[in-house]
Amino acid sequence: MLFTYVNPTRIHFGQAQIAQVKNEIPQDQKVLVIYGGGSIKRNGVYDQVVAALSEHTWVEFSGVEPNPTKETLDKAVAIAKEQGIDYILAVGGGSVIDGSKYVAAAAKYDGDGWDILTRKHAVTEATPIGAILTLPATGSESNSGAVITKAETQDKLSFMTKFVQPKFAVMDPDVMKTLPERQLINGIVDAWVHVCEQYITRPVGAMVQDGYAETLLKNLLILGRDFAGRDNDAWRANLMWSANQALNGLIGTGVPQDWATHMIGHELTALWHVDHARSLAIVQPSLLRNQIEAKRAKLEQMGTHVFGLEASADLAERTIDAIEAFYHQLDVATQFADHGLTAAAAVDAVVNQLEAHGMVTLGENQAITLKESREILTNALV
Ligand code: NZQ
Ligand code: ZN
Repeated sequence: MLFTYVNPTRIHFGQAQIAQVKNEIPQDQKVLVIYGGGSIKRNGVYDQVVAALSEHTWVEFSGVEPNPTKETLDKAVAIAKEQGIDYILAVGGGSVIDGSKYVAAAAKYDGDGWDILTRKHAVTEATPIGAILTLPATGSESNSGAVITKAETQDKLSFMTKFVQPKFAVMDPDVMKTLPERQLINGIVDAWVHVCEQYITRPVGAMVQDGYAETLLKNLLILGRDFAGRDNDAWRANLMWSANQALNGLIGTGVPQDWATHMIGHELTALWHVDHARSLAIVQPSLLRNQIEAKRAKLEQMGTHVFGLEASADLAERTIDAIEAFYHQLDVATQFADHGLTAAAAVDAVVNQLEAHGMVTLGENQAITLKESREILTNALV
């Protein structure tokens, strides 16, 4: 193992912590508050933000949509540039936080912000960001990644740079009380797949990363199986913290990582607006079956340590079945038919987008070429 590790985001976890924003953002900074479609107006989070910023100068930008688009975000970039914004406060789920990362980086760039996604522009500075998380799922509140869509061309691409990592994040589990069931389930599934992407690869003897990944998977399994009993502080806090830890960099440090499920899933979202988490559940079981030989040892380890399965020659196969059953228990589909095309045309559409985006050698072994992606999609799209 060889790595350098830091996670510089200061986290304020627990009830009533939104008030910490007052101390986190220096009072002389002009703040742009960015949020989504208005859930924060209905659950009291907006009022807490207003109270915390009562001594700051601030403006707001709302309307960041799920799977945020550069078309919408460019309007916030213009505000940030015109009004000399010093600090961005993102208040929402992964979409708002990712969108704020785009705004923060694009505000310091003279060209088209999309150049950041196409790698034409390398980010060297960004407006500082703070995040108030309202939907535990992506880990965006304390990582350096963002996923942005260009609606015009149905491109959904990601970028990573330390310059957009939030300086601080507030995680108050009370804000989850207004989350629709669908979004809570999305959070469990997204966090689960984040751990899988960093764990179901090949064994490298990383005891800390493997052990913590297994703990997080077991937590998510318990929370999912106890979904009916979700209306309590401990359930909410455990999901919020588990989802954060799933993608804050730690378990992926110094180990191989996959991410093919995400890259293929992003195309389903860009083409057919499938919720991010649900796109993953559609792709992952099929992908694991396609890559089972390369992943057999880790699947067996997961079967034993996470699901408590007995050893057998088909343990890896049974582990994939258990993953799929977990999604089904949450009423999350693992195949997709709602594309309005024939299955063959839908597969072609995704493969063409993967090719256009250079996603031609995916996975920890770069073994998922367009041929394998086609096989995976043929089982996933019906
Ligand atoms: O827009 P509002 O009105 O706030 O409503 C949102 C939205 O409709 C609602 N919501 C959020 N908090 C709520 C709430 N409703 C009631 N009460 C609350 N407390 O939930 C809906 C979905 O929100 P969204 O932010 O889109 O969901 P999520 O957090 O799942 O984010 C998904 C986005 O993150 C990207 C995905 O690709 C997708 O674009 N990802 C980002 C990653 C990262 N930065 O590391 C990694 C992930 O793998 C993922 O790709
Ligand atoms: Zn994800």
